[in-house]
Amino acid sequence: MSSLENKVAYITGGSKGIGFGIAKTLLDFGMKVAISSRDLSAAKKAASSLSDDPSKVLALQSNVSSMANEKDAVQKVIDQFGHLDVLIANAGVGHFAPIDSLSEELWKNTIDTNLTGVFNSVKATVEELKKSKGYIITIASLAGTNFFENGSAYNASKFGLVGFTQAIMLDLRKYDVKVTTIMPGSVATYFNDHTPNEADAWKIQPEDIGQIVADLLNMPARTLPSKIEVRPSKTSKS
Ligand SMILES: NC(=O)c1ccc[n+]([C@@H]2O[C@H](COP(=O)([O-])OP(=O)(O)OC[C@H]3O[C@@H](n4cnc5c(N)ncnc54)[C@H](OP(=O)(O)O)[C@@H]3O)[C@@H](O)[C@H]2O)c1
Repeated sequence: MSSLENKVAYITGGSKGIGFGIAKTLLDFGMKVAISSRDLSAAKKAASSLSDDPSKVLALQSNVSSMANEKDAVQKVIDQFGHLDVLIANAGVGHFAPIDSLSEELWKNTIDTNLTGVFNSVKATVEELKKSKGYIITIASLAGTNFFENGSAYNASKFGLVGFTQAIMLDLRKYDVKVTTIMPGSVATYFNDHTPNEADAWKIQPEDIGQIVADLLNMPARTLPSKIEVRPSKTSKS
């Protein structure tokens, strides 16, 4: 039996992409998962394609930029599964434009989702995770350490997220709550209005990030990889 059997994860933004891939992998390891989306019907559709066993998967509507939404979603996780072991703070958006044309609206949406959204998810789950001696994993990006043209909003959100995650790792390890940030390079997802296709074969696949999550959850209790950079092993040209 897997040591992850019947552990419970709440994955923000699990309707597609990396969050969906993590949900799939954790279910394969015998875990129970709750996945969220801004749109309940998208979460439900994803949940039914993950498993036909409603005792294993819970679909939730929550916009991570709302603390009230996140608190409500976490209460539903506890009502359904009784406890929470893992938060995967994954929900995120990408808006890319030079600073002279970047709108205030897109700046705010990026920070409210990628940075304040993770704050909200962590605040809504932290007491449950202290009870279960659980795990918080944030999905940042290599854009949290490498800056690029047109990246001011996204870079700011992900640099901020890496700093936030490292600081709360120090706050929470005294409660035996582990915290890790995963910083992926290119992953084949729907990010920034992309549609995954055959030309994406060189990229990391969402389930590969799921495998990293499962490996982290299976680490000896005494060991904490707190920051993980992961990139495709080949470039698009090689
Ligand atoms: N793809 C990459 O190359 C890559 C690389 C590094 C890091 N990342 C990071 O990985 C994370 C997941 O992105 P992805 O690549 O999987 O993109 P994706 O395929 O577009 O999926 C994004 C997910 O986030 C959800 N979401 C977006 N805004 C939300 C909000 N305000 N509240 C709740 N859910 C929200 C979406 O759900 P709905 O649209 O259904 O609401 C969807 O489930 C992001 O944080 C992204 O920055 C991606």
